[in-house]
Amino acid sequence: MCGIVGYIGEKTAAPILINALKKLEYRGYDSAGIAVFNKDELKVVKCKGRLAALEEKLGNEVVDGNIGIGHTRWATHGEPNDINSHPHISNSGSIAVVHNGIIENYMKLKKFLEAKGYVFASDTDTEVIAHLIEYHYKGDLVKAVTESINELEGSYALGVICRDCSDQFVAARKDSPLIIGLGQGENFIASDIPAILEHTRDIYILEDKEIAAISRNNVRIYNNYGAEVKKEVMHVNWDVASAEKSGFEHFMLKEIFEEPKVLKNTINPRIKEDNVVLDGININVDELNSIEKIFIVACGTAYHAGVVGKYIIEKLAKIPVEVDLASEFRYRDPLIGNRNLVIIISQSGETIDTLFALREAKKRGAKILSIVNVVGSSIARESDNVLYTWAGPEIAVASTKAYNTQLAALYLIALDFASKKGTIDANTHSKLMEELKQLPDSIEKILQEKKDIQKFASQHYNAKSIFYIGRGLDYALSMEGSLKLKEISYIHSEAYAGGELKHGTIALIEDGTLVVCSMTQDALFEKMISNIKEVKARGAVVMVITQERNKPELQKVADMVITIPDVDSLVAPIAAITPMQLFAYYVAVHKGCDVDKPRNLAKSVTVE
Ligand code: F6R
Repeated sequence: MCGIVGYIGEKTAAPILINALKKLEYRGYDSAGIAVFNKDELKVVKCKGRLAALEEKLGNEVVDGNIGIGHTRWATHGEPNDINSHPHISNSGSIAVVHNGIIENYMKLKKFLEAKGYVFASDTDTEVIAHLIEYHYKGDLVKAVTESINELEGSYALGVICRDCSDQFVAARKDSPLIIGLGQGENFIASDIPAILEHTRDIYILEDKEIAAISRNNVRIYNNYGAEVKKEVMHVNWDVASAEKSGFEHFMLKEIFEEPKVLKNTINPRIKEDNVVLDGININVDELNSIEKIFIVACGTAYHAGVVGKYIIEKLAKIPVEVDLASEFRYRDPLIGNRNLVIIISQSGETIDTLFALREAKKRGAKILSIVNVVGSSIARESDNVLYTWAGPEIAVASTKAYNTQLAALYLIALDFASKKGTIDANTHSKLMEELKQLPDSIEKILQEKKDIQKFASQHYNAKSIFYIGRGLDYALSMEGSLKLKEISYIHSEAYAGGELKHGTIALIEDGTLVVCSMTQDALFEKMISNIKEVKARGAVVMVITQERNKPELQKVADMVITIPDVDSLVAPIAAITPMQLFAYYVAVHKGCDVDKPRNLAKSVTVE
């Protein structure tokens, strides 16, 4: 949801800002802009469209100067056009601002500023910030930004430059992510780490309502009362290549191909001598036994991982689990207290609905265990326990490898809880651990067989509607398969529990409708065969995803059988999602869609 960057140093700022924005384009891509300070001039170049449009515009202008800020936008207030693009400048032209987030009291502030004579050019909430800072500015930019943010309600990550300050720029944040990259004789800000990785791996993470004064050789951080705050430097271990396409046509494909590696990273270090040992989790047997119910709270793909988690934790650890969409949970007055554990799942660790749900649960006394991919993210920092998914940076808007690792983390938690509570026998425990360890190899095999999926996708990319059905864990899996397809290919799709289809939705099946059936659950195999027959009888074309062992049987009833190796039904979702991700990917590629940056979407949803 919008990416912001900033630079101060000895180099020319504009190309550095543009390169950094390229790494953040996944956050929003309907318009972009930069503001650079040079001598006495604050030069702003911005336009509607992708970064490429901005680059073209910059090709016709001279933008020198070695201090600047930049923005790539996902519109909230005001349609994507040149005027609504960031940076926004104050009336005198002395202050330029880039912003990620939503200012909720902007109407009130706008009225106040209009009464003081300020004239507004755009429809954005952000413009009030530029005018407000100018209103408060009396020669001290940090003070002006501090006074301004104390009047803002809502969420913001800000980069601010001022025509009177050639030696520093200012950043601030609340409920939207912002990091400061620490270089040699140069410093940076960015909404996310990949933007600055090629320059530095040392960062500060800005906390809510902190303000940073950033100069070439120094970064000072203050709280919103003006007191200086001391920060720990965090060193990022990711390498630059993990945030690059490395020869793949799209980030999404590259990230699917990384699944074996990232699963190993997430699983292997946590299995020691046939036991699950969870770093970062401090929940003892007594605490576990006192938990009456677990809530899993997340959004989108992470929510779908949570639905799998419910099945697994209930089955293995025998603790009741409720799964909630974070955006619903926070407003539904949940019955939750200190005898509940809340498992929060989030790739980015910054999704605002999920973060606010976490705070709501914490306020009500629940303990928080989060499954997060981004180290140092807001959700990680505010949780009592964190289990990191070591998926590395996920750049494609559609989540893939992060989902597989979220599932792996949930299985590890379920196994850990089950063995602590004594609800699993030794044989099942070691069999499941063995199965988990084998998963990376299984996925490697699936990836080698991608040609069949690619071919089938090339025959169905014109479909108007595609249904996904499954039972039990396969139903949870179908939800994710269906989401993947619709978000990147724009084909209408619904996921249904196999047994539920006949209660209404089967009316939509007609000649040629594609139905994707997940069939990895041995105990539900025959029931699913009946469902296949029901849809076939109404003209459906059926693609099945199943274990190798079921192929001969299913070839008799389905039009296409995609196999995964013979994994156990319980761990099958971690492997069976991969062919679904590949199918969605190839359908979108055949349709000519922008796979990594689907329309209307953005990664890291930091607005409500
Ligand atoms: C879909 C997708 C989204 C995210 C959701 C939560 O491919 O990526 O549905 O899963 O926005 O994001 P995180 O996991 O960052 O909290």
